[in-house]
Amino acid sequence: MKTVHTIKELRDHVHQQRMAGKRIGFVPTMGNLHAGHITLVTAGLKQCDVMVSSVFVNPTQFGPGEDFDKYPRTLEADAAQLQAAGCNLLFAPSVDEMYPGDQDQWAKVVVTEITERHCGAARPGHFDGVSTVVTKLFNIVKPDVALFGKKDFQQLAVIKRMTTALCFDIDVIGIDTVREANGLAMSSRNGYLSVDEKERGAALYQCLCSAKERIQNGERDYDSLSQQAHATLSAAGFEPEYFNVCRADTLAPATAGDKDLVILAAARMGKARLIDNIDFRLQD
Ligand code: PAJ
Repeated sequence: MKTVHTIKELRDHVHQQRMAGKRIGFVPTMGNLHAGHITLVTAGLKQCDVMVSSVFVNPTQFGPGEDFDKYPRTLEADAAQLQAAGCNLLFAPSVDEMYPGDQDQWAKVVVTEITERHCGAARPGHFDGVSTVVTKLFNIVKPDVALFGKKDFQQLAVIKRMTTALCFDIDVIGIDTVREANGLAMSSRNGYLSVDEKERGAALYQCLCSAKERIQNGERDYDSLSQQAHATLSAAGFEPEYFNVCRADTLAPATAGDKDLVILAAARMGKARLIDNIDFRLQD
């Protein structure tokens, strides 16, 4: 695997592959890689000839007071994991390479509507930062296929909408969440948790699973379900932020007749803000 740090080097390498008729897959990340990230690369390799991954802790998607400064940066270990997974090219630019001078002020990509609720409401400007950096990365790499985790369900929905609305000729594919043995969704931010908190963190997914079961058994009062989940999460040591039963396509609040559902949840445990979700289809 080759590692490059500049846009020019990246473009040169990918251009050669494209000219050779190769299908290019792309997995953008912020690094500190775990099995969740690697599964995206593995899935990409099944349908692409060349896999490109990026490691870039993107400042524009962090709000004031968020963890940009302390976000774990582990490039050497990340490169080793990507190489072992069969990734062909790693793009690891500096902040200056991606946003020289005051270029972060020149333009931004705003995806409307689907960004307004859930994490978009809790983290103002976050999705503008994500859609802007992913646009830049898409324009730099020009992949045929890009893979994103369902772990960040709203992010995946935002990227799919952006790709359609802005006519990117890229297949955006969502990959199932990889979990720890106790059900906790793998996340770079789990490193902020103590061993005890990691154990208790499993309650978030348990709560999602039991809400899904209750809906499958006929529960349709989603407001009360959400309130009960808040109480359960508080009792398990979380500070719940949201627990929303939504339509899977628009992420708007679900009504009793909706069939394709996703429950989106965010909760704080100690120093970490954890997000998770579960999606399912109700029988007609
Ligand atoms: P990051 O949090 O590093 O995640 C990179 C990709 O890995 C995302 O598509 C995310 O959904 C996926 N991922 C994370 N944990 C996962 C898990 N447990 N199972 C499956 N996939 C998982 O998301 C970002 O970076 C950034 O916002 C980015 C898109 C790179 C833009 O900066």
